[in-house]
Amino acid sequence: MNSITRLMLAGASVIGITALLTGCGNGSPDLYKDASQPVEKRVENLLSQMTLDEKIGQLNQRSMWDGDEALAHFTQEISDGNIGSLLNVPSAAFADSMQRVAMERTRLGIPLLISRDVIHGYKTIFPIPLGQAATFDTTIVEQGARIAAVEASSDGIRWTFAPMIDIARDPRWGRIAEGCGEDVYLTSLMSRAMVKGFQGDDLTDPTSMAACAKHFVGYGASESGRDYNSTFIPERLLRNIYLPPFEEACKAGCLTYMSSFNDNDGVPASGNKFVLTDILRGEWGFNGFVVSDWASVGEMVNHGFCADYKEAAMKGFNAGVDMEMESGTYITNMKQLLDEGKIDMAAIDRSVANILRVKFMLGLFDNPYISTPQEVKYCDEHLAAAKEAAIKSAILLKNDKDVLPLPADTKRILLTGPLAHAPHDQMGTWVFDGEKERTVTLLDALRNEYGNDVTIVYEPGLGYSRDKNEAGIARAVSAARGVDAIIAVVGEESILSGEAHCLADLNLVGAQGKLIEALSRTGKPLVTIVMAGRPLTIKKQLDESDAMLYSFHPGTMGGPALADLIFGKESPCGKTPVTFPAAVGQVPIYYSKNAGSRPAHGTETLIDDIPQEGGQTSLGNTSYWLDAGFGPLFPFGYGLSYGNFSYDNLSLDKTTYKKDDVITASVTLTNSGKHKATEVSQLYIRDHAGSVTRPVKELKGFERVTLAPGESATVTFNLPVSDLAFYGADMTKKVEAGDFTLWIGGDSDCNLSAPFSVTD
Ligand code: BGC
Repeated sequence: MNSITRLMLAGASVIGITALLTGCGNGSPDLYKDASQPVEKRVENLLSQMTLDEKIGQLNQRSMWDGDEALAHFTQEISDGNIGSLLNVPSAAFADSMQRVAMERTRLGIPLLISRDVIHGYKTIFPIPLGQAATFDTTIVEQGARIAAVEASSDGIRWTFAPMIDIARDPRWGRIAEGCGEDVYLTSLMSRAMVKGFQGDDLTDPTSMAACAKHFVGYGASESGRDYNSTFIPERLLRNIYLPPFEEACKAGCLTYMSSFNDNDGVPASGNKFVLTDILRGEWGFNGFVVSDWASVGEMVNHGFCADYKEAAMKGFNAGVDMEMESGTYITNMKQLLDEGKIDMAAIDRSVANILRVKFMLGLFDNPYISTPQEVKYCDEHLAAAKEAAIKSAILLKNDKDVLPLPADTKRILLTGPLAHAPHDQMGTWVFDGEKERTVTLLDALRNEYGNDVTIVYEPGLGYSRDKNEAGIARAVSAARGVDAIIAVVGEESILSGEAHCLADLNLVGAQGKLIEALSRTGKPLVTIVMAGRPLTIKKQLDESDAMLYSFHPGTMGGPALADLIFGKESPCGKTPVTFPAAVGQVPIYYSKNAGSRPAHGTETLIDDIPQEGGQTSLGNTSYWLDAGFGPLFPFGYGLSYGNFSYDNLSLDKTTYKKDDVITASVTLTNSGKHKATEVSQLYIRDHAGSVTRPVKELKGFERVTLAPGESATVTFNLPVSDLAFYGADMTKKVEAGDFTLWIGGDSDCNLSAPFSVTD
């Protein structure tokens, strides 16, 4: 703590002691400091003592920077009561120092909420959220968020801008990396797990971190997969697809929400009262606070929704953005807006109360300073969990002739590709704090853990993913001479996905395609590992490889995880959390689509089979692409293992259910392979005819099942009929009676099914 105390600015003046107290609500002026009082009483008591300036200051969040100038500037601003929350505080020492200013040099001693983007780990980096979703394992995901909170809180961070739970069905959008993929059910479960993990069991525990459900809402539908773009999501789609993960976050007690950058059907999210107030507070009963995304209140001017910052402040505030991140339109305009009657005092009080409530709930008034030990960072337990998450997130897409796992008598392998030893890029997007020096790459892990028994020849071939210099490819090819197998790690650098990093072409960048092509020609068994922030169009490389493992940027422990998978110490069990397109022109492509008027049947005529000068045809034709057929490269929920799983004997306990029944569905799962492995069994349903059209399949449950070679198990799902409810023609959520199909299988393309009906 010495360095922390040293940062305190000597001699900064204490302000505002003389300000007169104007009534203290119920109780003494010090009631709000009494931890034994109920939170609401404390909020009310404190609020009643605050000046208008102090209140407006609470609504202002600012980003800090490093250095003495920042220290002086923020000391002044905080002492003046102008800031309620800081983000991007550069160190624990700064965090503690700024908190001391807030506690000791302001009239009422209101603590700061210190925040940061702790997205998939703080120091110990877990797989990117898309990779975490591929685990279909809410336990490890919750544990990952908990670990992130423990490590971040040791540097004074008590609020993270996560989970990011935007449904994303367009891999061109760089931010698909940050979310849980395309599915409502999977994302909702992950949303709950992450909120629970970040916030912990006891909010007042010094390791708990307020979660922030973002980006509220619809941002994942950015038109053409381009960031900061508009969305056009009608209300029913919003309610059926985009809102449920956010509602789940609310049910899990998520303390904050972030309004997104997009304008939906003409209304920017930060000015959308229907969503921020009517739905979030009115329908869901949320009582935490809403923060804007970075400058998104001010950017309503760019949208053409407001003439100037003053109008932006008015519209943002009146819509329900309590705290403004960075653009500063509130602090500059709020008093005038109040004088002009464009916002009202009761609304200011409500917003300030929302923010104070969260600060009280987190115990910040009672325990404002850092009390988590520094040693938690990168501790063994955290590294082990990060490795487990990376193992579970890897998806085996192909394994011809059981090339993987490599046999025990493997003597020599070639490790190649620009991501085989890329400690920075392996961590993925949104990593501010993880250090590449702590990353264990596949090269490190193979050498350290398998190097005694196997000769690891390392020849990267390319310097980095975008490298177009082909000179190294020949070196990699000649290094393949005499090896038993080639492991090629290709994909994307971390900077090619995430915010503001969208792509129009999803093929491998640089000369990576040429590298795989050349390696394939050697005739050696070729295992391709793809590390990326999104599904890439890798059909050609898939055909050229004997086996392919897809590892969304796997984080600090990605190397050891992949090494254990390659040598069979662990079996892959990840499943695609998002559909893999065969060609970028198919995007958006997702499994839970509506049927359309002429659904494809899989036997459509492709481009080369169309007769020259053929006559106009439409009757009998279906919905597909001449040059890409209909299907994706891999459907949602897909992933192999070293076992060999099959499903049969699907049975339902009844054929007709009432709306308050629970459907019991079971299936026999068998592992006829040679390895113990885990399968994610998935349950899908289709509602055949509704008051509005319904998706052809919807995930409604999944179970992770581990079976030994030759073992069978009955997998049973209990699905409440109420889970079939949706927003229909009258925009209310209910189950509609009618005929359904239920499937259980290993991916969304599964075909073992049983019919059932629901009656009124
Ligand atoms: C991003 C948010 C992030 C915020 C603060 C914005 O640019 O959209 O996801 O939490 O910055 O860093």
